[in-house]
Amino acid sequence: MAAGVRPSRPQVLVCLGVLLARWVAAGLEAPVIGEVHENVTLHCGNISGPRGLVTWYRDDSEPVFLLSSNSSFRPAEPRFSLANGSSLHIKALRLQDEGNYTCREVLNETRWFRVWLRVARGPYEVEVNISSTGTLPNGTLYAAKGSQVDFSCSSRSWPPPVVEWQFRAPDSSTEPFGSNLTVSSFILLLMSQNLQGNYTCLATNTLSGRQRKVTTELLVYSPPPSAPQCRAEMSQGQLTLQLTCRWDGGYPDPDFLWTEEPGGVAVGTSKLGVEMLNQSQLSDGKKFKCVGSHIVGPELGASCVVQIRSASLVSEPMKTCFVGSNVTLTCQVSGAYPPAKILWLRNLTQPEVVIRPNGHYLITQNGQSSTLTIRNCSQVLDEGYYVCQAKNPVGVREVDIWLSVKEPWNIGGIVGTIVSLLLLGLAIISGLMLYYSPVFCWKVGNTFRGQDMGDVMVLVDSEEEEVEEEDVAEEEEEEEEEADEREESPKEINKHGHIHRVTALVNGNVDWMGNGLQALQDDSSEEQSDIVQEDRPV
Ligand SMILES: *[C@@H]1O[C@H](CO)[C@@H](O)[C@H](O)[C@H]1NC(C)=O
Ligand SMILES: *[C@@H]1O[C@H](CO)[C@@H](O)[C@H](O)[C@H]1NC(C)=O
Ligand SMILES: *[C@@H]1O[C@H](CO)[C@@H](O)[C@H](O)[C@H]1NC(C)=O
Ligand SMILES: *[C@@H]1O[C@H](CO)[C@@H](O)[C@H](O)[C@H]1NC(C)=O
Ligand SMILES: *[C@@H]1O[C@H](CO)[C@@H](O)[C@H](O)[C@H]1NC(C)=O
Ligand SMILES: *[C@@H]1O[C@H](CO)[C@@H](O)[C@H](O)[C@H]1NC(C)=O
Ligand SMILES: *[C@@H]1O[C@H](CO)[C@@H](O)[C@H](O)[C@H]1NC(C)=O
Ligand SMILES: *[C@@H]1O[C@H](CO)[C@@H](O)[C@H](O)[C@H]1NC(C)=O
Ligand SMILES: *[C@@H]1O[C@H](CO)[C@@H](O)[C@H](O)[C@H]1NC(C)=O
Ligand SMILES: *[C@@H]1O[C@H](CO)[C@@H](O)[C@H](O)[C@H]1NC(C)=O
Ligand SMILES: *[C@@H]1O[C@H](CO)[C@@H](O)[C@H](O)[C@H]1NC(C)=O
Ligand SMILES: *[C@@H]1O[C@H](CO)[C@@H](O)[C@H](O)[C@H]1NC(C)=O
Repeated sequence: MAAGVRPSRPQVLVCLGVLLARWVAAGLEAPVIGEVHENVTLHCGNISGPRGLVTWYRDDSEPVFLLSSNSSFRPAEPRFSLANGSSLHIKALRLQDEGNYTCREVLNETRWFRVWLRVARGPYEVEVNISSTGTLPNGTLYAAKGSQVDFSCSSRSWPPPVVEWQFRAPDSSTEPFGSNLTVSSFILLLMSQNLQGNYTCLATNTLSGRQRKVTTELLVYSPPPSAPQCRAEMSQGQLTLQLTCRWDGGYPDPDFLWTEEPGGVAVGTSKLGVEMLNQSQLSDGKKFKCVGSHIVGPELGASCVVQIRSASLVSEPMKTCFVGSNVTLTCQVSGAYPPAKILWLRNLTQPEVVIRPNGHYLITQNGQSSTLTIRNCSQVLDEGYYVCQAKNPVGVREVDIWLSVKEPWNIGGIVGTIVSLLLLGLAIISGLMLYYSPVFCWKVGNTFRGQDMGDVMVLVDSEEEEVEEEDVAEEEEEEEEEADEREESPKEINKHGHIHRVTALVNGNVDWMGNGLQALQDDSSEEQSDIVQEDRPV
């Protein structure tokens, strides 16, 4: 470097070499630290006041002349300059500038000062590799809960840096993470929600203290733990259907796609999983499928299906109430999805008037079963058609119930009626016996012991008649027959049992009849409610 200058100063260099040993023994002050590309100033001793002639050397295997305050000597390199008359200013430091420097000052006496310069470099960049993660469109990394994540970090500097990882969870302070030795990688085996946060790799140059860091935000995502739940509901106004898909417990929230099935025609996609459909998009039995997709969930998503259905109604076709007493009409709705809203209507004088509960009407609903209790029946006010209506966005279904209101009956009336019925029954039995062969009669007589048979036949006929009566009652045919019907009411429990017996007899299955009689009597209790199902779309 200073090859042209050195040979002209041999005597100085000899002196310097002799003196070096003394300084080493005396010990040196802390090194001056500079950084590559930066400037540094080395002072010629810690002295204030006027200075003498100063010459700077570099201590190599031989001292090398650098600079003198005598302007007759040019600096060894343009990077070197004299500052404040005695200090050595070095521009644009290089790593090779590291070393020991000597300053010789000649004033009244010659003094020597030594400066130790150390040069640091970097770190300028930090390389971070977090693997087995995904990257969001905005560059943020995410890892699936429970997965393994490898963190590694490296950086270069002179002297080699200390590399450390730090972790900062949201709303908490930074904590050192992993090792702060130059070891720069670690593995997190089971990622969990509390490991979501900012991971910072910090590289520090121990000499210069220069630090460089890279912060990476890592989100820990988890799919919902269970299957999605589909639901259809009536929304405000009962004319719109709200499809709701819930798939809770995941992070972040999943996306939902509702489609019509089959066909897969899209109904809508959303973050909420809620879609509104109007009636024109609905038909009985139609299916809708919701597919939930989550960024770390199953690749094809998870799905659920709802099938919408209109209601089926079951009710008694007719009911009887005695003046002044109470009667309860029951309406059983089934199959409706979403669940139907059940209303009771009347159309006796005012068609389709909705019945509101009050002192006269009591409406109770238990699930999809509704009862209307009419208190203190009045013939004028209460007799007529009642309509049970079940309505959901898929459709409206109605069933009619005829309520007849009767005068209460008295004991004399009952006895009279029973007697007349018995007579009528006997007459019919006689007719039957004549109609069928005597053999038949004999067989029957053996199978059933006499008295029972008589009862059977008598009551059967009256019942058959009554069943017919019920059918025609709507037309209000005969006052007298209605009186019969009134009187039959308390015996309802028996009557169907008898019907079965006759049916068996007519079919000729007499042997079976004898064995199965008990079973049939048991069955009769199920049948006695005389249920009629009627679906009538409106
Ligand atoms: C180094 O000093 C020169 C002038 O002596 C100056 O122009 C330059 O900006 C300095 N560099 C730094 C990094 O301070
Ligand atoms: C110079 O020396 C004095 C006393 O020896 C000391 O107090 C002072 O801090 C030194 N200054 C520098 C810049 O080293
Ligand atoms: C500077 O150096 C020249 C050449 O060696 C010398 O003649 C001159 O006396 C020196 N000046 C001082 C002030 O030492
Ligand atoms: C020169 O001396 C002045 C005053 O002592 C000081 O402020 C300045 O920083 C010094 N310059 C250098 C390059 O050391
Ligand atoms: C400078 O001197 C110090 C102390 O004597 C020594 O430890 C160091 O190795 C020297 N540096 C060079 C480059 O010789
Ligand atoms: C140099 O020596 C002269 C005479 O011996 C003295 O007056 C002066 O103060 C000294 N200067 C310094 C800096 O020591
Ligand atoms: C990051 O690390 C993984 C495994 O540790 C390796 O497969 C991948 O190549 C690395 N990526 C970079 C950019 O270094
Ligand atoms: C990137 O997007 C995710 C999810 O939308 C968000 O949580 C995160 O804060 C975003 N990061 C940046 C740097 O915008
Ligand atoms: C290393 O870790 C210890 C304690 O965890 C800390 O006191 C020290 O400052 C760390 N060293 C570096 C270089 O960060
Ligand atoms: C990570 O740091 C950024 C910037 O400071 C901040 O906006 C973000 O909320 C942090 N993320 C977490 C998870 O702490
Ligand atoms: C009709 O119902 C009301 C209220 O439930 C009750 O107080 C009344 O006694 C009932 N009447 C008859 C005749 O059962
Ligand atoms: C009253 O109800 C009956 C039975 O459901 C029905 O046939 C008739 O049309 C209704 N009348 C009116 C005016 O709606």
